[in-house]
Order: sequence, then C-alpha cells, then structure tokens
Amino acid sequence: MTDRYCVFGNPISHSKSPVIHAAFAEQTGEAIDYSAIEAPLDDFAGAWHRFMAEGGRGANVTVPFKEQAFALCDTLSDRALRAGAVNTLVVGADQDSTHGDTTDGVGLVRDLFHHDVVLKGRRILVLGAGGAVRGVLEPLLAAGPASVLVVNRTAAKAAALAADFQDLGTIQGGGFEAATGQFDLVVNGTSASLAGELPPLPETLFAPGATAYDMMYGAEPTVFLRWASGLGAMPVDGLGMLVEQAAESFLLWRGKRPLTESVKYGLRLDLQ
Ligand code: ATR
Repeated sequence: MTDRYCVFGNPISHSKSPVIHAAFAEQTGEAIDYSAIEAPLDDFAGAWHRFMAEGGRGANVTVPFKEQAFALCDTLSDRALRAGAVNTLVVGADQDSTHGDTTDGVGLVRDLFHHDVVLKGRRILVLGAGGAVRGVLEPLLAAGPASVLVVNRTAAKAAALAADFQDLGTIQGGGFEAATGQFDLVVNGTSASLAGELPPLPETLFAPGATAYDMMYGAEPTVFLRWASGLGAMPVDGLGMLVEQAAESFLLWRGKRPLTESVKYGLRLDLQ
C-alpha cells in the first residue's frame, strides 16, 4: 500500500518538493506517493481534512498556509509553538488527529553544518523579522552562538521578535542601523531579494572568514549574495535549506533520514 503525502501551497506549480521527496523515497526504498496540491486561499483546513479522509498520511505546507496549518493542529512541537507556524503535518496513529512541526530552522542549521559553518560561539546577524525568520530562530539559538542580532526595516518588529526568544539565548533586535561591528554569519531572511533589493547595510559587516546566507535561491546569486561575496564573505543560497527541511519532514513521517547531497546536486543542475 503506497502512503500519500503532499505539499500544500497557493500557487504551488513551481514547487520542488515532489521531486525532492521522490528522490528520498527511491533512495530509502519507502513506498510513498507525493503530490502538489493548490489549496483554496480561504479554506486550508477543508483541503487538509479532505486529503486526510482520502488516506493522506502527512503534508508539507508552504506560502501562504503555514499559519492556517498551525491553527488546525491538535498537537504541536515546541519549535512549532515558538514559530507560530508549521511546515509539516503528520496524521496521528488514530488516523484522525493532526500533529504540526516546523523543520525550516533545522534545515537551515543542517545546511550550514554541511557548509562547515561553525555557529557555536559566533556572532550572527539576521536580516528580517517576518515569518521566515521567526521559523528559524529556535534552532539557531540552540546551536550556541555568542549572540544573535535581528535587524529589520520595521525596527519594532525585530525588537518584538527578539523579546519572544530572550529565554533561549543572547538575542537583540533593532533597525538596520543597529547592525554595527562584524559578524561571522549574516542570514538574509527578508524578501528583499525577490524585488532585487539590498537592505541598507555597512560594507564593514563581515568578519574575516564570514558566511553570507540567503534563504532565497535561484539560477543566479541574489543581489545580497553578490554584494556579500564582493566583500569577501562565502555566499550560500537557500537551495540546501530547502532540501534539508524536506529531509527532516521525511524523517518525521517515515523514521528514516535520507541523504541530501545528491539531491542538492541534482536540483542545482536543474537550475542551470
Ligand atoms: P516571510 O514569511 O517571507 O518572512 P513576511 O512575514 O512578509 O514574509 O516578512 C518579509 C520580511 O522581509 C520582513 O522582515 C520585511 O520587512 P518589514 O517587516 O519592514 O516589512 C522584509 N522586507 C521585504 N521587502 C524588503 C525590502 N525591500 N527591504 C528590506 N526588507 C524587506
């Protein structure tokens, strides 16, 4: 019997998740069918419950449904509670209840690990204070950095976000002008790259050997990554994070952690 999974989004036609999970299934020998479903903007819960009734075992959730998915869960992981959003739904053993989790932050941390980026004891700057950033702060802080500074166009949002994570480590928030000094890792979690824009930041931002990470990816480096590599930082885009968060979801569903390197390589080739 083939177990059914899917990714919900709107729009969803460009999602790479079906290709990624098909590769994981082949590698691990798991019999799963994984599709992409465009849920109606105003009725995510209806789409999920239909999928469950048809035998669905779990799902990934992407833009714009991560908060709606969070709201319908019967149980939630601690990291999902912190994020206020979920990207992974798991049907309970009773076939009737829904567990929610978020694997984006683990995906980011694991991708950084694969790039040999050390987090422990380092200074981290995070750009942006929206849902994407909220979803990754818990695993970033758990990795034991010396400090995390969150800066955002709307400074008050960054300050509020930092306040929500105070108990997990040394974290502060402010406007872009607060980004002074040097950082070992700068993570761009704004959607500015979508508009080809660069947040206003000083050119002295990167410590020697620093890494610049953009949660976005594409065939070409983002404007942020081009700027950062011009200043001597190692640029890393978000393609690896996409594959790592998928692997973590696969682990939650199937109890097996797939290898990710060849899948990342295949996606990178497809982008060219
Ligand atoms: P997501 O779920 O992708 O995080 P979001 O919650 O809408 O989306 O957040 C988008 C983030 O990108 C916010 O931090 C936003 O800054 P504001 O809070 O000030 O709106 C940031 N952002 C979007 N466009 C930007 C730009 N051109 N320059 C700088 N920051 C930008």
